[in-house]
Amino acid sequence: MTIDLRTRYLGLELRSPLVASPSPLTGSLDGLRRLEDAGVGAVVLPSLFEEQLTHDQLELDRLLETTSEHTGEALSYFPDLQDYNTGPWTYLDHISQAKQALTVPVIASLNGVTPGGWVGHAKRMRDAGADAIELNLYTVATDPRTGAAELETRYLDLVADVRAAVSIPVAVKLSPFFTALANFAVRVEQAGADGLVLFNRFYQPDLDLDTLDVVPRLVLSSSDELRLPLRWIAILYGRVGTSLAATTGVHTGLDAAKVLLAGADVAMMTSALLRNGPGHVGVVEGELRAVLAEHDHDSVAQLRGSMSRAHMPDPAGFERANYVRTLKSWSSHTTVSPGQATTDEPVG
Ligand SMILES: Cc1cc2nc3c(=O)[nH]c(=O)nc-3n(C[C@H](O)[C@H](O)[C@H](O)COP(=O)(O)O)c2cc1C
Repeated sequence: MTIDLRTRYLGLELRSPLVASPSPLTGSLDGLRRLEDAGVGAVVLPSLFEEQLTHDQLELDRLLETTSEHTGEALSYFPDLQDYNTGPWTYLDHISQAKQALTVPVIASLNGVTPGGWVGHAKRMRDAGADAIELNLYTVATDPRTGAAELETRYLDLVADVRAAVSIPVAVKLSPFFTALANFAVRVEQAGADGLVLFNRFYQPDLDLDTLDVVPRLVLSSSDELRLPLRWIAILYGRVGTSLAATTGVHTGLDAAKVLLAGADVAMMTSALLRNGPGHVGVVEGELRAVLAEHDHDSVAQLRGSMSRAHMPDPAGFERANYVRTLKSWSSHTTVSPGQATTDEPVG
């Protein structure tokens, strides 16, 4: 059975729904080439952070102000600036080199939460050849004086600013921590987003009692974490007009098939590729084809969204009723697969 894996994401035609999400693998040309050789449909480059850009912008302003010469002269300070902080400028080179080296779409990523001049960098990304921009709204809202409404307005202004800066598609990578996520998702679309990427995975710091320090601890995901994006993609499919991308917990072809059935256009992978290498894309593609064939689907387009909330006989399965059913399922937990969590997990 021939299976057509093609999909559309952000208006781009992709040969496969398997996309490499931002990671050190997509930060190197060698990694990108290996991902393309393994069959990836598109790549998202690592993020350029607001902090890097603001830093560079301040330095540029300082140089422009302190020189008495006209702009042409001032611009000759750029090489110094590059030595000072290679981040943003090297990033643009990485985009152009990636575009030259690959045939699949290259998506650049901006990571920030406050509106500001740094957003103008989206234009430079477009000029460097990016096919689309992913805007990652990664923040931990720790200030008790800042309420949800204020933060959401700030995010939406930012999405609108990036949207206004470029004509290429813009996807927004969200955190799952919104009180009214469905409402916010719709407003992100209204602010101009062409796609939603669900979800950011927060890295929780740990405490080191020997050094009495807070230490970063990066733990790669597992397939168990798929269920959060899975549920929300199923809920949002048909309610937003944007493309939908699943990120967090896609490790196997079965995982990818699930998010596509829920309504995703693409299944993004980072942890699985860091753990198994870029060639893992080929393994996941083989598994995905097998799952589709087993269920008599001959194309991604045909199966997409067929198990979304809107298409399920019992949509409550994605909602509150599911909570009660999940708690009740504890009594039959002995049926969990070998190697998975067993009896000693607290519930509730
Ligand atoms: C080492 C590492 C670096 C990452 N860098 C970025 C980044 O620069 N920008 C971004 O939006 N996400 C970044 N991520 C998050 C991933 O793109 C992805 O969304 C997350 O790991 C969840 O997907 P997974 O379960 O497939 O790993 C990074 C993840 C890892 C593990």
